[in-house]
Amino acid sequence: MMELVKTVTLKIDGADPRKSMTEIDRAAEALRAGGLVAFPTETVYGLGADALSPGAVKKIFEAKGRPADNPLIVHIARADDLNGIVDAANDVSDTARVLMERFWPGPLTLIFKKRPAVPYETSGGLETVGVRMPSNEAARLLIARAGLPVAAPSANSSGKPSPTKAAHVEFDLNGKIDIILDGGPARYGLESTIVDCAGGAPRLLRPGAVTLEMLEEAVGGVEVDPAVLRRTNGRPYAPGMRYTHYSPLADVTVVCGPLERVVGKIIELAAAYAADTGRTPGILATDQTAGSYDHERNIVLTLGDRGDPEAIGANLFRMLRKFDHYGAGRVYSESFEETGLGLAVMNRLKKASGYDIIEVGQRYQS
Ligand code: TXA
Ligand code: MG
Repeated sequence: MMELVKTVTLKIDGADPRKSMTEIDRAAEALRAGGLVAFPTETVYGLGADALSPGAVKKIFEAKGRPADNPLIVHIARADDLNGIVDAANDVSDTARVLMERFWPGPLTLIFKKRPAVPYETSGGLETVGVRMPSNEAARLLIARAGLPVAAPSANSSGKPSPTKAAHVEFDLNGKIDIILDGGPARYGLESTIVDCAGGAPRLLRPGAVTLEMLEEAVGGVEVDPAVLRRTNGRPYAPGMRYTHYSPLADVTVVCGPLERVVGKIIELAAAYAADTGRTPGILATDQTAGSYDHERNIVLTLGDRGDPEAIGANLFRMLRKFDHYGAGRVYSESFEETGLGLAVMNRLKKASGYDIIEVGQRYQS
């Protein structure tokens, strides 16, 4: 049984975290003492612990209910900190160097061969380690003041959508972690892009706010792991892709195709679901389509303007959690073109649905 701890939420100034050094130093001290601290990043909230301490890292897995073979991302405050966990002279390729220069600090995780100092508890038994330097200033201050590399998965219970604000962390992890630093809502709301740089050609393992197009523009050809687009049977490169992710309690169905036909199909499916079960269906809509649905008979939530992919990405996990809050038994979701940020949005939506995808008419993209 897990021991219950008192979780303290400390509000910090998200815009100017240097005004909140008392709170940040208290959290840094908790990390040095082997404790668990949830903190804001530009992607989602992370659940941090000393990445070099097997005991501290084990607590992360306990608090989240996370399988021990799912590796953690190690967060650093400065590029120089990389050398403590990766042999920078020998195990960082030229391609990786370009990506670091271009996108760090920012929402990009790179996979390298790890140094022995990184315990297998952190790497999930692998010889590699994922490293990220967040652009969120509070996150970097916390890591720098702790003086440690900080292992941090998303700060949700395993299987739930990633937290994009402190209240989500409280909901999932209250009583299981020491401190939550509340720096306001996460900017991107989608977890970082992951690129494997440990082998030959760079390989995209998870799409995020650093888009495939941006990566290709920087380094040329980037392989895309098949698990980014669809359910795969083989062993995926990012072990986390094996597990159901981002799922709200409700079952999600994603409807793909030309927008007008998608809306028509969702109206039909939602009505059939209500008639069959007597329950109220959820509909994940957009500003352009929300008016087409019956708001009396459905729980209609909008992700935002289709012309503003950043807003759609930032709202996705929050809206999935909202459906749980409202008790929707099933959610029908619209879909997006799989380019730019849309690739990451669709990747998370498809996972949330357990790949329950319905296609109407012609698809946007194969
Ligand atoms: O944006 C983010 O990356 C957030 C914030 C907190 O930084 N963190 C995050 O961590 O999303 P997590 O643990 O929820 O997702 C990490 C993913 C998992 O799918 C894991 O399997 C993969 O990264 N991963 C970590 N280390 C890896 C490695 N050495 N090789 C392949 N995949 C790895
Ligand atoms: Mg996660």
